[in-house]
Amino acid sequence: MTGGEAGRELIRLQDLVKIYDTGSLRVLGLDRINLRISRGEFVAIMGHSGSGKSTLMNILGCLDRPTLGHYYLDGTDVAEMTPDELSAIRNRKIGFVFQSFNLISRMTIEKNVEVPMIYGRVRPAERKQRARELLETVGLLSRMEHEPNELSGGQRQRVAIARALANRPPLLLADEPTGNLDSQASVEIMELFARLHQQGVTVVVVTHEENIAAYTHRIITFQDGRLISDEINEHPTPISEHRGLSGRMS
Ligand SMILES: Nc1ncnc2c1ncn2[C@@H]1O[C@H](COP(=O)(O)OP(=O)(O)OP(=O)(O)O)[C@@H](O)[C@H]1O
Ligand SMILES: [Mg+2]
Repeated sequence: MTGGEAGRELIRLQDLVKIYDTGSLRVLGLDRINLRISRGEFVAIMGHSGSGKSTLMNILGCLDRPTLGHYYLDGTDVAEMTPDELSAIRNRKIGFVFQSFNLISRMTIEKNVEVPMIYGRVRPAERKQRARELLETVGLLSRMEHEPNELSGGQRQRVAIARALANRPPLLLADEPTGNLDSQASVEIMELFARLHQQGVTVVVVTHEENIAAYTHRIITFQDGRLISDEINEHPTPISEHRGLSGRMS
């Protein structure tokens, strides 16, 4: 999908600090983070509630800005970009998946997948074509005329992943994507991420659960806004070769 250039640096955080200033109270969300992630990596971010995982993801996804320090995305310092440049880079380089899916109700899943392409100025015929290919990738082509509330949680999350991939971003960020799913659906989501990683997409997933993180190749742990460990996972959970996704049958 977005292969090639594997191993080249995609993300670099340098002494990155995030302070939330809510008037009377200042909260240190992230405390001097230094981190590099290369193209093609498959990374888990772990840590207790309040440790800074979502704060990190929002900065990586250019949804929020650091208070101090630098975030270089593909070599460009995000702090120096204008709001217009930031939204352009977000659209081109980043797909974001949320715990609560965030699909648009009363819109077919095919249209949901097309939405980022409208912002990306993709022509209508190509939008339709690409939306179908993406729904095929996540095993939901047969459901393309359905609306989100007609699908299971796991299927909705797969639509959200298809939508996140619409503009073929090199980076896929997922903040607790399995947080609302049962264990079977969670496995399907992680296997999908593993396959996308095999196709060259850089995937960063936040999770509380060891067995979810076990699918990834590198596990980074946060505590109280600090990065406290960064380990290679030598034996990632293998993905099943022949198992179809539920929904393909329907
Ligand atoms: N918008 C905000 N305003 C003020 N403080 C915030 C804000 N967002 C997060 N924080 C604080 O920053 C710290 C890190 O929060 P963050 O949401 O990044 O944690 P998390 O690791 O994602 O937790 P969880 O596992 O519960 O999702 C917490 O102390 C939190 O209260
Ligand atoms: Mg969070």
